[in-house]
Amino acid sequence: MSGSAITPWVVGNWKMNPMQAGAKQLVQELKQLLLDQPIEESKCHMAVAPVALALQSVQAQLQDSSRSVCTVAQDLSRIAGTGAYTGEISAELLKDSGIDFALVGHSERREIFGDSPAVINEKVKNALNAGLTVIYCVGESLQQRESGQAEQTVLQQICDIAPAVQAGQWQSIIVAYEPVWAIGTGKTASPADAQAMHAKIREGLSQITPAGQNMAILYGGSVKPENAVELAACPDINGALVGGASLNAVSFHKIAQAFANTK
Ligand code: 13P
Repeated sequence: MSGSAITPWVVGNWKMNPMQAGAKQLVQELKQLLLDQPIEESKCHMAVAPVALALQSVQAQLQDSSRSVCTVAQDLSRIAGTGAYTGEISAELLKDSGIDFALVGHSERREIFGDSPAVINEKVKNALNAGLTVIYCVGESLQQRESGQAEQTVLQQICDIAPAVQAGQWQSIIVAYEPVWAIGTGKTASPADAQAMHAKIREGLSQITPAGQNMAILYGGSVKPENAVELAACPDINGALVGGASLNAVSFHKIAQAFANTK
C-alpha cells in the first residue's frame, strides 16, 4: 500500500472547549450535516476528541449518527490500571468506558504540562497495552525549523516511542505531524513542506516497522476548509488533526469532505 491508498482520518481536537451545551450543539450539527451530506466511511474515518468530562456524553450522542464518528481522549495517565493516583485517568479506565482512541504527545502537553519523552513513552505503552489506538503527535518548534532542525526533531520524536511499542502494535498507531508554529496561528505548512516531512516520517517509520507503509500520517496546524483540498492532495498526508476549525461543524464537515473526495 502506498501512502495515498490509506483511508484518511479527520480528527477534531476540541482541546479545552466548549461547555457541555456547546458540545451537545456541535455534535447535533455535525450529525445533521452527515445526514444531509453523507461522507462515506470507506472514504474517510472521522473522530472527535472532547474534554474528558464530555467523552461519554459525546459518544452516546454519536451512537445514532448516520455513520461512525469515533471518540478520542485528549490524554491519559502515565500510570496504568487503577489505584491511589488523584486526578488521573488511566488507559484501562478509558477502555472500560468504551473509549478506544487517545492522543499522546500533543505539543501543548509537551510544552505546557511538561510531558517528557519518558512520560510520553509510558502513556504510549499503557494505551497500546490496554488496546487503545494512539494518535501520536510530533512536530518541531519555529526555532527548530529556522535552525534547520525540523526533520531531525520530528524523526527523533518518532524514534523516541520505539521502545514503548511492541512489534505487533505499530498498526495501532496513527501519527499526527503538527508543526508547533502552525498550531492556532493561522499559518499552515505549505503542502509541499508538509508532504516532504510526511514522506520523511513514513521513511523513518518504515525503517522501524514494516507497518510504516500502511500507517496513517495526519497533518495538523491551522487546517481549514480553505487549505484542506491542497493538503489532501499530497500522497503522504492521510488526514488531518483539526483544532480550531473542528469547533465549527460546517468547517469540520467540509474538511472531512475534502479528504473523502480528494483521496
Ligand atoms: P489548530 O487547527 O487550531 O491550529 O490546532 C491544531 C492542533 O493542535 C490539533 O491538535
